[in-house]
Amino acid sequence: MLSSNMKQAIFFTLLASSLVTGQFPVDTFITPANEIFDGFVSFSIEFSSFPDFAGNNSHPNTFSDNLLENIRHISGTKPYIRVGGNTQDYALYNASLPYALNGTFDPKRSLDYPTTIYIGPSYFESYNTWKDVKFSHGFNLGLGANTSAGWQTLLDTVPLACKALGGGKFYLWGYGNEPDLFSTAVQGPVRPPSWNESTYVWQWKNGTRTIHALLQQHCPDLVHESRYGYMAPSHGGVGNRLKAHVSWAAGLNSDRNVKLFSTHNYISGAATPGVTLQGTLLNHTVTARSVDAQAAEYARIRSLDPAAPPAIFGETNSLYNQGRPGLSNTFGAALWVVDFNLYAANKGFKRVHMHQGTNYRYASWQPIDTNITTAGTKPPYYGNIATAAALGKHDHVEVVNIPLTYHREAAYAIYHSGILSRIMVLNMRGHNTTVGGEGLVPLPGPPKRGSVEYVFQLGGVAFGKRVVRVQRLVANGSDAITGISWDGWSYNYELDQGRPVRLGNVTTGEEMEVDAQGRVKVRVEDSSAALLVF
Ligand SMILES: *[C@@H]1O[C@H](CO)[C@@H](O)[C@H](O)[C@H]1NC(C)=O
Ligand SMILES: *[C@@H]1O[C@H](CO)[C@@H](O)[C@H](O)[C@H]1NC(C)=O
Ligand SMILES: *[C@@H]1O[C@H](CO)[C@@H](O)[C@H](O)[C@H]1NC(C)=O
Ligand SMILES: *[C@@H]1O[C@H](CO)[C@@H](O)[C@H](O)[C@H]1NC(C)=O
Ligand SMILES: *[C@@H]1O[C@H](CO)[C@@H](O)[C@H](O)[C@H]1NC(C)=O
Ligand SMILES: *[C@@H]1O[C@H](CO)[C@@H](O)[C@H](O)[C@H]1NC(C)=O
Ligand SMILES: *[C@@H]1O[C@H](CO)[C@@H](O)[C@H](O)[C@H]1NC(C)=O
Ligand SMILES: *[C@@H]1O[C@H](CO)[C@@H](O)[C@H](O)[C@H]1NC(C)=O
Ligand SMILES: *[C@@H]1O[C@H](CO)[C@@H](O)[C@H](O)[C@H]1NC(C)=O
Ligand SMILES: *[C@@H]1O[C@H](CO)[C@@H](O)[C@H](O)[C@H]1NC(C)=O
Ligand SMILES: *[C@@H]1O[C@H](CO)[C@@H](O)[C@H](O)[C@H]1NC(C)=O
Repeated sequence: MLSSNMKQAIFFTLLASSLVTGQFPVDTFITPANEIFDGFVSFSIEFSSFPDFAGNNSHPNTFSDNLLENIRHISGTKPYIRVGGNTQDYALYNASLPYALNGTFDPKRSLDYPTTIYIGPSYFESYNTWKDVKFSHGFNLGLGANTSAGWQTLLDTVPLACKALGGGKFYLWGYGNEPDLFSTAVQGPVRPPSWNESTYVWQWKNGTRTIHALLQQHCPDLVHESRYGYMAPSHGGVGNRLKAHVSWAAGLNSDRNVKLFSTHNYISGAATPGVTLQGTLLNHTVTARSVDAQAAEYARIRSLDPAAPPAIFGETNSLYNQGRPGLSNTFGAALWVVDFNLYAANKGFKRVHMHQGTNYRYASWQPIDTNITTAGTKPPYYGNIATAAALGKHDHVEVVNIPLTYHREAAYAIYHSGILSRIMVLNMRGHNTTVGGEGLVPLPGPPKRGSVEYVFQLGGVAFGKRVVRVQRLVANGSDAITGISWDGWSYNYELDQGRPVRLGNVTTGEEMEVDAQGRVKVRVEDSSAALLVF
C-alpha cells in the first residue's frame, strides 16, 4: 500500500536552458487506492505549551482558534490536536497547584522547554477552549513507569483527562513520547542502557491496561471499542536503537488497542552541520528520502502484521531541537511544509500533526507574547493553509507525486474520488530579499527574480477547453519572515487576530486554459508555489 502509486512514466523535454521548462505527464483519472483521512492538516502541541496555545476557561486563546477555524473553512474539518512531546514525560501532577503548569528550566537539558514540570487541575481546562476539536492527551511513561510519583500521576490524571475529553472531544490517547530515545536522550536518559523493545512493550502494556481500568471506573463511556485506543509507538525516528517493527513483533499491539501507527519525523537537526535553507528544506530529495525511510519502516510492520493500523505522523516538523532561525521560521519553511505534507500523503501517511511549541523556531504561530517572541502568525502557517487548499474539501482525496527534474522543485496531482482536481507546483529555488539572506540589509534596487514555466500534459480523457484557476503562495523571497500571502489572503495576527484579510497588493483571480492537446502551462517564480484548480 505504501509502495508508490505513481503511474507516470518519466517523459519530459527540456526546451530552454535559462527558463527551464519541462513537460510532465499527469493522469486525469486514477483508481483510488491511497486516500488520506479527514483533518490531514493537523497539529501536535508540546505538552508544556498547551496552556499557552489553548488558554483556559477564563482566558481562551481565540487567536489560536481563529487559525484553526481558517483550516476548517478550507478543508471542512478542524485540525486534530495531539498534546504531547518530550515534556509529557516530565509532567507530574500536583493537585494543589493553583494554575495550569509550573515549569522549571534547566539550561543543561533544554533552553526551549522546562524539564521539571508540575501540572495542576486547571491544566485540563485547556481542552475546553476550541470548538469541535478532537484531542489526544499524552500520558507520562518516562517517569510514569519509573518513579512512584510518575505512577501516581497516571492514576491521578486519567480521570481528569477522560472527563475533559468527554462529549466528543476524544481522539486517541498517547502513552510515552519517543520511547526509542529513553535510554539515550540528550535531555537526560530516563531508562538504563539495557532498555529495549521488550521492556518497552511490557511497560506500555502494564500502563495502558491500567489506563483502561481507570477509564472503566471513571469514564465508562470512553471504554467502548470505538472510543478507546492509542496512537503509538510515537518513536522519534527510524535510525534509533529501538525499532518500531521490533516493538510490534514484541507484541506492542497484542491488545489490539493501537488505532493509529504514529511515528515522528524531522528531516534534519537545528544544529546539524551542513544544514541550509536551500540544501535541506528547499530540497525535495532530502524531504522525500526522510519520508521514504519512515514508509519503509511502516512497510516492515505491515508485512509482519497485515492488520496493522494506518500510519500517521503524530509529531513532525523541519529541524529537530525546535528549528533554526533563518531557516525554520522563513517563507522557505512554508514551501517545505507543503512539500513534506503532500509527499507524506503520496506515501500513504493518512494525517500529519505538525509540532508546535511556545517560542519554537519552526512554529506555525506564536500563541502569546513572551520575552523571546511576540504573538503572531509565522510563515509555516501559510504552508499549512496552502496544503489544506491543495487537498480541498472532499471526502475522498488522494495525492500523487509528479516526478520533476531537479532537487529544487516538486509537483503533486490531487484527486477527488479518482478525478484530477488540483496540481500543486513548488519552485523551491531560493530567492533572497536581503543581502546574504540575513534579513538585515535590503537588496539595493529591485531584485531580479527567476521563474520557471511548467507544462503538464494531461493524459486519459481530454479536458477540452477547460478553464483552470491559479492560486499562489507568495512572499518577497525564501528568507522573508513576513509579508506572506495565500491567494491574496493574509492571516497575520496584527491585521485581524489571524482571521483572513484580503490584501490589496497581490494579484488574484488568475485563470488559464487547458489547450487542445490537453496541456496546461504555469509560470512559477523562484521561491513560490502555484495551485492549479481544475
Ligand atoms: C504543589 O503546589 C503547592 C501549591 O502551589 C505547593 O505549595 C507545593 O510545593 C507543590 N508541590 C510540589 C511537589 O511542587
Ligand atoms: C487562566 O489563564 C490566565 C491567563 O494566562 C491566568 O492568569 C490564570 O491564572 C489561569 N487560570 C487558571 C485557573 O489557571
Ligand atoms: C514549582 O516547581 C519548583 C521546582 O520543582 C518548585 O521549587 C516550586 O515550589 C514550585 N512552585 C509551586 C507554586 O508549586
Ligand atoms: C505496573 O502496574 C502496576 C499496577 O498494576 C504498578 O504498580 C506498577 O508500578 C507498574 N509498573 C510499571 C513498570 O509500569
Ligand atoms: C529509572 O531511570 C533511571 C535513570 O535513567 C534509571 O537509572 C533506572 O534504572 C530507571 N528505572 C527503571 C525501573 O527503569
Ligand atoms: C531485551 O533485553 C532482554 C534482557 O536482556 C532480552 O531477554 C530480550 O530478548 C531483549 N529484547 C529484544 C527485543 O532484544
Ligand atoms: C539536495 O539534496 C541532495 C541529496 O542530499 C544532494 O545531492 C543535492 O546536492 C542537494 N541539492 C541542493 C540544490 O542542495
Ligand atoms: C523571560 O520570561 C521567563 C518566563 O516568564 C523568565 O523566567 C525569564 O527570566 C525572562 N527573561 C528575561 C531576560 O527577562
Ligand atoms: C541566500 O542567502 C543564503 C544565506 O546567506 C545563501 O547561502 C544563498 O546562497 C542565497 N541564495 C541565493 C539564491 O542567492
Ligand atoms: C516586499 O516587496 C515590496 C515591493 O518591493 C515592498 O513594498 C514590501 O515592503 C516588501 N515586503 C516586506 C515584508 O519586506
Ligand atoms: C503586501 O501588503 C502586506 C501587508 O501590508 C505586506 O506585508 C507585503 O509585504 C506586501 N507585499 C508586496 C508584494 O508588496
